[in-house]
Amino acid sequence: MTPAQWKEKLFLVRDSFFSSLAGIQTGGLEALELLYFGRKGDLSLLLRDLKDFPLEERKALGALGNEVKGAMAAKLAEKKGGPGAGKADIKTPFSDLTMAGYPFPKGSLHPLTVTINRLTEAFIKLGFSMADASLIEEDYYNFEALNFPPDHPAREMQDTFYLDLKDPSGKDLLLRTHTSTVEIHTLKDRRPPLRVFHPGRVFRCEAVDASHSFAFHQIEGFYVDKNVSMADLRWTVDAFIKDLFGSSVAVRFMPSYFPFVEPGAEVEMSCVFCKGHSGKCPVCKGSGWIEVLGAGILHPNVMRATGYEPRQWGGFAFGAGIERFAMLLFGISDMRVFYENDLRILKQL
Ligand code: DAH
Repeated sequence: MTPAQWKEKLFLVRDSFFSSLAGIQTGGLEALELLYFGRKGDLSLLLRDLKDFPLEERKALGALGNEVKGAMAAKLAEKKGGPGAGKADIKTPFSDLTMAGYPFPKGSLHPLTVTINRLTEAFIKLGFSMADASLIEEDYYNFEALNFPPDHPAREMQDTFYLDLKDPSGKDLLLRTHTSTVEIHTLKDRRPPLRVFHPGRVFRCEAVDASHSFAFHQIEGFYVDKNVSMADLRWTVDAFIKDLFGSSVAVRFMPSYFPFVEPGAEVEMSCVFCKGHSGKCPVCKGSGWIEVLGAGILHPNVMRATGYEPRQWGGFAFGAGIERFAMLLFGISDMRVFYENDLRILKQL
């Protein structure tokens, strides 16, 4: 063995000792000590090999060996909680800054984050800017200003978690049930023209299954100016869906009801999996179409509630579930995958 090889072995012994030490509880300390410091322990054997080197080298290597041994013993004592514990690093500082580090697994972005980033890019390209809004909301922002008066049956569509805390008007605070709240905040805080989007988490009191969860994500977008029409909405929705899924997807609007828009629409896109060719497709259930968002022209009552004259100012709004987009982008049929954090599955995405 050359002196360089001996040194390398010494450092290997030291490193494997430190990493084993870090990984064990007090129960395994004695076994570990024996493995390294025992008569046939790795460190003892290595120090014994020193006798084969000529005197000069033996001296230099011996000093290094003792230093390493001291550092190892001190760490062991520290772990045992014995005398001198905690001072080990000061007494015998030993670290070789030139050693390569331990490899550690690099993470990757969660599929929902990837989807939010994709959507964000698409909206920024269309001239929208991102706004923020809070998860805990007042009834006014989540419902009332969005034209859901108290006791309106449309509130039933969004089974709500209420907090045991009151807002300034004496009503219970709630966890927002949708991201449409950002419309009211933005319209009150800023002046049009506004082109804004907001991705974020929303909450509904629902049992978890393959397509429902009590917490999920939505993205809301809206555009307020003079002379905004359904055609602008149609074009914008078409553009961002095509940005995400490619220009061959078809987009269609169907009449629907949401209290804060009039007219309101449900938007569907052609099935990216079967392209309408399979009557058995589990994603579109054979219809060839997948519902992806709700949209419409902002209701005059929403404009009035936020201080605008509806004849002068108006706009469109849309809201979509982010999990739905993520499921379509990554080909996942059960949204629980997103919350269970099973690395075996997430690594495949
Ligand atoms: N906020 C609605 C929901 O969560 C989705 C929605 C529908 C948003 C129509 C909109 C819209 O902006 O115009 O069910």
